[in-house]
Amino acid sequence: MLTTIRPHPYSQSNQIPNDLLTAISQLKKELNAVILAHYYQDPDIQDIADFLGDSLSLSQQAANTNADVIVFAGVHFMAETAKILNPNKLVLLPDLEAGCSLADSCPPNTFAQFKAQYPNCIVVSYINCTAAIKAMSDIICTSSNAVKIVEQLPKNRSIIFAPDRNLGKYVMKQTGRKLILWQGSCIVHETFAEKKIVQLKIKYPLAEIIAHPECETSVLRHANYIGSTTALLKYCQQSLSTEFIVATEPGIIHQMKKLAPMKHFIPAPAINNCACNECPYMRLNTLEKLYLAMKFKQPEITINESIRIAALGPIQKMLELSF
Ligand code: 13P
Ligand code: SF4
Repeated sequence: MLTTIRPHPYSQSNQIPNDLLTAISQLKKELNAVILAHYYQDPDIQDIADFLGDSLSLSQQAANTNADVIVFAGVHFMAETAKILNPNKLVLLPDLEAGCSLADSCPPNTFAQFKAQYPNCIVVSYINCTAAIKAMSDIICTSSNAVKIVEQLPKNRSIIFAPDRNLGKYVMKQTGRKLILWQGSCIVHETFAEKKIVQLKIKYPLAEIIAHPECETSVLRHANYIGSTTALLKYCQQSLSTEFIVATEPGIIHQMKKLAPMKHFIPAPAINNCACNECPYMRLNTLEKLYLAMKFKQPEITINESIRIAALGPIQKMLELSF
């Protein structure tokens, strides 16, 4: 249902210019806007972005931009993080329904009850969560810095890790620390099945398997390399291998092909060969909706001020500890 193409609230066919790229670039100048895009966006959006990156680098860009308007081609929690960091800027998300299954898997009321069972714990939350969860956390992490952040926490304190149980298990393995895990997951990364990956490896014996840590342990144990989207991109450029089985959202393959044009990238399929390895939320954004969002200055991200202030500290702590 989420993948259905729905019209933008302000869309009328006569309002979409033929030359969308020129129109977007004009609006960018008029608004003093910056377009930030995640690697899981459609290639045409990736190609017009001022900055393309993973969740960490996008939040670093949002923290440092001089633009008046941030157009976030990504999902809601990413645009919300940009707004938490920039309360006085206009933050636009081309489709307000571009959410995230991981963020949805951690409702604030239930998480508050969970947290209350473990007093005195440090709460580390993966950035893929709502502002309300960030506000209940001590520090935020992304897939690129989760291990480094947990390693820097005092050894005598227990840690709650939310919401992704797969990233949590991976961090436990890397750091040797026991984490109390919230049992959330990503519908896209849980669609990759061990059996399919093994079958692909038999078909392409020279290929390296590269995987995002949101994948299940049964998939990660076959991986030659595990990392955030940015780390996967760097790895496939530096590796001597020329063939890769990519166990993350296939939108990133657009950049992989651009940065390593002589190499071959094979998207890991979903368990039942559907398109479920594509993030249905990320794919709600289109170039047309991005143009309309800039033209009408909506949909805009807004956040309750007390939640924003409570969520800001844990994000700033992450940015300070990320190097
Ligand atoms: P990154 O930290 O690699 O950007 O991951 C974001 C994400 O949503 C993965 O599903
Ligand atoms: Fe959320 Fe998964 Fe989509 Fe990433 S790929 S935005 S974790 S649903």
